[in-house]
Amino acid sequence: MADTFADVELRRLQPEHLAEWLLIEKATFPDPWSEPQLAGFLEKTRYQCFGLFQLNRLLAFCVFTTVLDEAELLQIAVTPAEQGRRLANQLFLLAAEKLEAENIHRILLEVRVSNTPAVQLYKRLGFSEDGVRKGYYPTTAGREDALLMSFSF
Ligand SMILES: CC(C)(COP(=O)(O)OP(=O)(O)OC[C@H]1O[C@@H](n2cnc3c(N)ncnc32)[C@H](O)[C@@H]1OP(=O)(O)O)[C@@H](O)C(=O)NCCC(=O)NCCS
Repeated sequence: MADTFADVELRRLQPEHLAEWLLIEKATFPDPWSEPQLAGFLEKTRYQCFGLFQLNRLLAFCVFTTVLDEAELLQIAVTPAEQGRRLANQLFLLAAEKLEAENIHRILLEVRVSNTPAVQLYKRLGFSEDGVRKGYYPTTAGREDALLMSFSF
């Protein structure tokens, strides 16, 4: 499987991308953020929102919140038809380059232990497992643990 795609590019998300972003958001998360929430991320400087585009089509996005030299990865998602092609890997590495250029030295995240594609992605990227937050996420069957992971530059 190819690990990089030459015909895709990273861009910062803008208000004109909201409709496409919302479509991916709704298709990939059971409890998606609303359009006003997405618009709010674009307005506040502590959030950094990136999209991976092929021509002018948004294929994937990620959202970070930053404090001093740390960032937290809040969401990363790939449009369903393009999942399984390592696009999230490429998106994360390109976005991390931008964050590093802004003096971010560590990225943290929380992920559901059952989210195998995401956990695999983060492990392949070199995230380390820092701990478990018991019963952090609600599920239809009760509660689910969060895996705490971090990535240092
Ligand atoms: C998590 C996500 C961003 C990964 O993006 P991607 O570009 O499809 O990632 P990859 O192609 O690198 O696949 C990730 C890994 O999951 C595996 N995988 C893909 N689909 C899978 C599935 N349905 N079940 C189990 N594993 C799967 C891949 O084989 C790969 O593992 P590998 O590195 O061992 O080969 C994408 O699956 C997604 O958008 N999920 C919905 C949103 C989400 O849960 N985001 C993460 C939390 S914010």
